[in-house]
Amino acid sequence: MTDVGIDAAEFRSGKLKLDLAETFADEKDDDPAKYTKGLGLHASSFPDAYEDIVTMAANAAKRLMDRKGLAPEDIGRIDVATESAFDHSKPVSTYVAGCLEQVYDGDFHHANKGERKFACIAGTQSIDDAVNWIAAGKNRGRAALVIATDTALYERGDPGEATQGAGAVAMLIDEDPDLTVIEPEQGFGSADETDFLKPNQQFPSVDGKRSMQVYLMRMREALEDFEMQTPTHPDDFALVPFHTPFPGMVRKAAALGYRHVARDTDVEEELAEEIGRQPRPEAFDDEEAYRDALKEYTDKLTETDLYSEWYSRTIEPTLEVSAQVGNWYTGSVHVARIGGLKHARENGIDLDNEQLLVCSYGSGAQAEIHAETVQPGWEDEIAALNIDDQLVERYDISWEQYEQIHDVHNHDESTDIDAYTTPEGEFVFDGWGRMGERKYTYVE
Ligand code: CAA
Repeated sequence: MTDVGIDAAEFRSGKLKLDLAETFADEKDDDPAKYTKGLGLHASSFPDAYEDIVTMAANAAKRLMDRKGLAPEDIGRIDVATESAFDHSKPVSTYVAGCLEQVYDGDFHHANKGERKFACIAGTQSIDDAVNWIAAGKNRGRAALVIATDTALYERGDPGEATQGAGAVAMLIDEDPDLTVIEPEQGFGSADETDFLKPNQQFPSVDGKRSMQVYLMRMREALEDFEMQTPTHPDDFALVPFHTPFPGMVRKAAALGYRHVARDTDVEEELAEEIGRQPRPEAFDDEEAYRDALKEYTDKLTETDLYSEWYSRTIEPTLEVSAQVGNWYTGSVHVARIGGLKHARENGIDLDNEQLLVCSYGSGAQAEIHAETVQPGWEDEIAALNIDDQLVERYDISWEQYEQIHDVHNHDESTDIDAYTTPEGEFVFDGWGRMGERKYTYVE
């Protein structure tokens, strides 16, 4: 089978920034370390008044198409993954195509468009759909555009408020890709859960603590399923990008994942001299005693040099960008992948033909784990991104401005304010059509 995977990716942040240590913690009268150390987050990206899931998606897609020299007829499929859609019928991908048709000759009339929903895992599912479409030979030489876009906002005062974010990641899925090849083995962990949901409402109902447990349970199941197909070893992977609602969540998931994968390997033997071997269920009379022993072992594990070195090499780099932008829901795991590759490029780490283990998650709930092989073109692709410029140029909002912009994006409020930034060379939201549709225009 021809190699299929991610040929290029683009990152588009909301143009505002809420500083968690300076602004959020100060207003809440909290220790800033709760956010910067506990959750591992420094700032959240927010959309300005003229930005939304469509503008961020279309702006990411345009930069990607320009950079790769693509015309609309080169794209046979546009899938948008989001959990912030404002229409139960017309998919966001049609709005995005409409935007792009304003600036390119030609159209996307022969492209299959859709919208994928399964909380934060929908972006990964859309990539899977696109890979399968190409592998099945249905693409007629064309590539697929997959865009994960969200305004991840919580109700004011919700504990999740500190983990908000807004942005889009656009990815071109194609044969012989320049960034990564998606390997066929997949592990799934999936169950009917009510930890985080939006039953016909804009802001989520969240059981925060439960959602963290569910994340870990489903991720463990997915890893077990993956390992049944491909036995793994902690040193098999150069980077392990996780869905990152906040880096502290990944810190917990990484420890459990490492312990699981290290079991019955030379790593467990090497660690045994320092912290003993991992507890085995057959050595315990009851489940609770076994769980306590596992927790004790995991705590000791995370203190070892071997684990710290692995964590600094494979996990920490994937959190660098996420810590500055917050949770982008469907885009989050793709920000982690890009962040890890960006770190490697900036630090002269050679990733040609190295493996990534990509660990996606969506509430409700499902985890999926697959491997990707980094392609020799990865460095040029990552060098073409302008992530640092976007992050530095964000307008740093005060608490009062945050309150206003949260209202602007609240569907139940009709707040109208002047934007904090001036659009230039981008798609903007510019009002409502006669059937209540949102309208967009390109500003030179
Ligand atoms: N210095 C250092 N650390 C501190 C601190 C300080 N001064 N104060 C607190 N902390 C630590 C806490 O110990 C805690 O760390 P541990 O969990 O390792 O103990 C961390 O900071 C957070 O503190 P709290 O648990 O007290 O925070 P909270 O209860 O206010 O909120 C939350 C945490 C429940 C995750 C909340 O942010 C939330 O509801 N988030 C939304 C749901 C979410 O993101 N869930 C993640 C899994 S679900 C998912 O991944 C899907 C998705 O995208 C939403």
